[in-house]
Amino acid sequence: MSKKIAIIGAGNVGGALEKGLTRAGYEVRTAKQGQIAEASTWADTIMVAVPFGAIAAVVAEIGNAANAKTIVDATNALTPDMQLAIGFTTSGAEELQKALPQANVVKSFNTVFAQHMSDGKVSGQQLSVFAAGDNAAARASVLELGRAIGFDAIDAGPLKNARQLEALGFFNIQLGYVLGNGPDIGFKLIH
Ligand SMILES: NC(=O)c1ccc[n+]([C@@H]2O[C@H](COP(=O)([O-])OP(=O)(O)OC[C@H]3O[C@@H](n4cnc5c(N)ncnc54)[C@H](OP(=O)(O)O)[C@@H]3O)[C@@H](O)[C@H]2O)c1
Repeated sequence: MSKKIAIIGAGNVGGALEKGLTRAGYEVRTAKQGQIAEASTWADTIMVAVPFGAIAAVVAEIGNAANAKTIVDATNALTPDMQLAIGFTTSGAEELQKALPQANVVKSFNTVFAQHMSDGKVSGQQLSVFAAGDNAAARASVLELGRAIGFDAIDAGPLKNARQLEALGFFNIQLGYVLGNGPDIGFKLIH
C-alpha cells in the first residue's frame, strides 16, 4: 500500500486531503511552488490540487520525479471565470497524462467539494468518489485512498472517463454556487 503522499497545493482541497489521509494513517507532505520536485521524489503517490491554470508550472517542476508513480488529478479544468476549459474530446487529466507520459494519472476527488473531502460525508451521509485512469494498479491505489478517507470509492474505468468526471465536477459547482444549493451537497451512486 502506498503510504507516502505528496499533495501539491495547500489550499482548500490540499488541506482537506491532508487532514483525511493523515487521519487514515498516511504520511503526507504538502508542497508549494519550489518544493514540488523534492516532495514528488519522496512520495509514492502525488496528488495535484492546484488551480487548472497552474498545471503547466507544476508539470515543469515535477519533471521526471513522477515517472512510474501514481498522480491523482483533483483539479477541475476551469477558466478563471469558472467555465469548463476543455470540452468533450479530451480532459484536463488526459492532457496532464500527455505532459507526464511516464506517470500514471488518475482523475479523482474533483467531483467533491473541499468541505467534504476530509471525511467523504455530507450531513452524515457517505458520498461517492470516482477514480478514472488507464493503469489498473494506480486506479486501485487511488480507490484505496478514497476508501481510507471514508468515501464509497467507485471505479470509473479508463482515463478517458475523466471527461465525464470533469463535467460532473463542473455540474457540482453549478448546483452549489450558481443554482443556490450551497456547498453541503454531493454525489452518491446507489448500487
Ligand atoms: N474547492 C473545492 O471545493 C474543489 C473541489 C474539487 C476540485 N477542486 C479543484 O481543486 C483545485 C484546487 O482548488 P482549491 O479550492 O484547493 O484552490 P485554493 O484554495 O485556491 O488552493 C490552491 C493552492 O494551489 C497553490 N498553487 C498555485 N499555483 C501553484 C504552483 N504553481 N505550484 C504549487 N502550488 C500552487 C496555491 O498556493 P498559493 O496560495 O501560494 O498561490 C494554493 O495553495 C482546483 O483545480 C479546483 O478546481 C476544488
